[in-house]
Amino acid sequence: MIPAENYLTAGVSYNYKAHRDMWYGHPQQLVNYWVPVFPVVGENVMSMYTDYFDRPVKNGSNAYDYDEWVANHRFAAADKTTKDDRPHPLPLEEIDPRGEIRIAGDAGDVMMFSSNHLHASAPNTSGVTRFSYDLRTINIDDVLSGRGPRNVDSGATGTTLGDFLRVSDLEPLRAEQFAGAAG
Ligand SMILES: [Fe+2]
Repeated sequence: MIPAENYLTAGVSYNYKAHRDMWYGHPQQLVNYWVPVFPVVGENVMSMYTDYFDRPVKNGSNAYDYDEWVANHRFAAADKTTKDDRPHPLPLEEIDPRGEIRIAGDAGDVMMFSSNHLHASAPNTSGVTRFSYDLRTINIDDVLSGRGPRNVDSGATGTTLGDFLRVSDLEPLRAEQFAGAAG
């Protein structure tokens, strides 16, 4: 949920600066599905910087460890109502906006993107709160064989693999079984 007019841009409604999900410890094989609940417009969707897919960005992900984030920061989101001072992996250089695209759509449309796509929450100047949900999948064969986009700039450690459930029986993945495979 991204409320309008900068009402709440921290914590649970944190307005994400430009990032790749890989900088947050997601595997390279991650596929995101982002779905608006009501129709959305350019002023309340996400910015996608598509020309950075294979172009490195200086960033703080080498100070990001997923396990440390879960232990110390994830659940602090609810307390962050004005300023989000959690150690997000931030871009450390200006992002060239020339390749920025914003994909608007209707309720229930699905925007799919990769763990490696550079994206940000656009400041919501639309006058209405944006409601959306997202989900994430990985193909286990891709993880095992290391197939996926090239890691151009992420130094994050730890992995979200242990948060995924197998579709057939909802069994949680054991992240340690993929040690070394996802890099
Ligand atoms: Fe993201």
